[in-house]
Amino acid sequence: MCGIVGYIGNRDAKDILLQGLEKLEYRGYDSAGIFVIDENKRSYLFKEQGRIAALRKVVDSTAAAASGIGHTRWATHGVPSIENAHPHQSANGRFTLVHNGVIENYQELKQTYLANTHLTSDTDTEIIVQLIAHLVEKNTVSTLEAFKETAALLRGSYALALIDKEQPEIIYAAKNKSPLLVGKGDGFNVICSDAMAMIQETNQFIELTDGEIVTLSRDTITIENQLNEVIEREAYTAEINLNDLDKGTYPYYMAKEMDEQPAVIRKIIQAYQNDEGVFELDKTILAKLIASDRIYIVACGTSYNAGWVGKQLLEKLTHIPTEVHLSSEFGHNMPLLTKKPFFIFLSQSGETADSRQVLVKVNEMGHPSLTLTNVAGSTLSREAEFTLLLHAGPEIAVASTKAYTAQIAVLAILAEVAGKETGLVVQDSIGHDLGIVASGMESILSEKHQIEQMAADYLSISRNAFYIGRGVDYYVAMEASLKLKEVSYVQTEGFAAGELKHGTIALIEEGTPVIAVITDEGIAGHTRGNVQEVQARGANTMVFSMEGLEQLGDQFILPKVNPLLTPLVSVVPTQLLAYYTSLQRGNDVDKPRNLAKSVTVE
Ligand code: G6P
Repeated sequence: MCGIVGYIGNRDAKDILLQGLEKLEYRGYDSAGIFVIDENKRSYLFKEQGRIAALRKVVDSTAAAASGIGHTRWATHGVPSIENAHPHQSANGRFTLVHNGVIENYQELKQTYLANTHLTSDTDTEIIVQLIAHLVEKNTVSTLEAFKETAALLRGSYALALIDKEQPEIIYAAKNKSPLLVGKGDGFNVICSDAMAMIQETNQFIELTDGEIVTLSRDTITIENQLNEVIEREAYTAEINLNDLDKGTYPYYMAKEMDEQPAVIRKIIQAYQNDEGVFELDKTILAKLIASDRIYIVACGTSYNAGWVGKQLLEKLTHIPTEVHLSSEFGHNMPLLTKKPFFIFLSQSGETADSRQVLVKVNEMGHPSLTLTNVAGSTLSREAEFTLLLHAGPEIAVASTKAYTAQIAVLAILAEVAGKETGLVVQDSIGHDLGIVASGMESILSEKHQIEQMAADYLSISRNAFYIGRGVDYYVAMEASLKLKEVSYVQTEGFAAGELKHGTIALIEEGTPVIAVITDEGIAGHTRGNVQEVQARGANTMVFSMEGLEQLGDQFILPKVNPLLTPLVSVVPTQLLAYYTSLQRGNDVDKPRNLAKSVTVE
């Protein structure tokens, strides 16, 4: 989703901004632009549709200037085009602005303040920059005052960076709901929507909270709140290893991240075990969790699918009823809550706007909340009462793989430790069993060429496909189908195997691929029956079964693991299948069309 970078210092800003934007490419975008200005007020604006590589081609290599702002846009208001790409400028050319988020009242602002202003784009962003210019011209206020006044008029979400041509030595920034960080350097300062964008410049970042306004020069950072009080806040050190951002010898990030899964599982075990090899979690989290009468897991996309596996783990190991909800639905249509709810937010990025709006409401209601995230210091981590980190390392491919398995592993640890507190779990086993999972993942990954062949045989030219399973295998079918549609664009449904016959079986025709996941002994026979039903109607079936449950003709045998942890291994061949199908269809597997990694609008 949209990304912001800004630099003010003494080096060539355009190179730093372009590199920063490249680091944000993983978030998903459809156009990009930069604006740079030198101390003599000579300025340059470059915008292009498509990738940063295309933007680089239109950037004039002689445009040397030591401050500037840049943006990657994921279209919300108006199609992806050069006109709608950021930065946007005021009609008089004095102000230049980039924006992440969505302004809900932009039509209203346009009518009230800008009826006579000629607009050149369809974006809500242009309204902001025109409004700043309007307030400066009309009320003869300073740029900072106009910026503050404008921010106060905006309803919705925003991270903003503004340059006034009359003051090339300053960048103004503001934020509400959308993420924005200030990075501190020696003789320079930066802003970015994600620390990853500027980690090659500095690892010292200052978090901003909603409603704050920042004035940035080479050597100073002034943060003010809505009451115009100056806020002093220490920088934190962003723990991002530059090597983790590198693809290394892999052709794609998704390939690298799938392969990293066994190591991530081992890292999680280590991170949560004490010196005696026993899992240890914050006692307050555990006390609040086990005092609750219901757990509500709230998440989106892949994290939502991981939530279903989490429900199974938490209910089995703690006996606390657990519900799983889509964030985008939950916040606006909240079910009747129990008396003592405990909320778990699952979010790889920790920035998903849909989940954040639920957390804001949960905080207002005063309920305990825990975020499981991969990004320390992310919004959902800061705003929830508690955080457990996934320790998966940066996930760059848009389609989530290692974060899904990391979420399940951390949920398994949480469920076991909480189960021990309740007295339900008497013997530790998850640590040992996760070790077996890691080895099982390795053995599946070593057979990836088998899956590559299956993708060619079953899916490379197919129009649609189905994943089926029962119980926890159904939860994996949901994630498997999401992964396949995200990267291969094959229309895929993840279905409860037994439910298929109640309507959806009408879609099965000669050659329709149906992939069954079978890991649960108790229901294996039933799922096999459903495989027969679709085979009888012409489906091209594939069975991924667990060792001990395999039958002759099954396409892939999964290594045996603790029945509570089977999704951690059964999901791996489905990730590989999605990956190879995408490549065979000639898609950009790391940056699937229309998708964004970090969705910061509701
Ligand atoms: C986007 C991504 C998905 C992800 C979802 C939730 O839609 O494309 O891969 O699962 O957001 O993201 P989160 O960071 O909250 O886990």
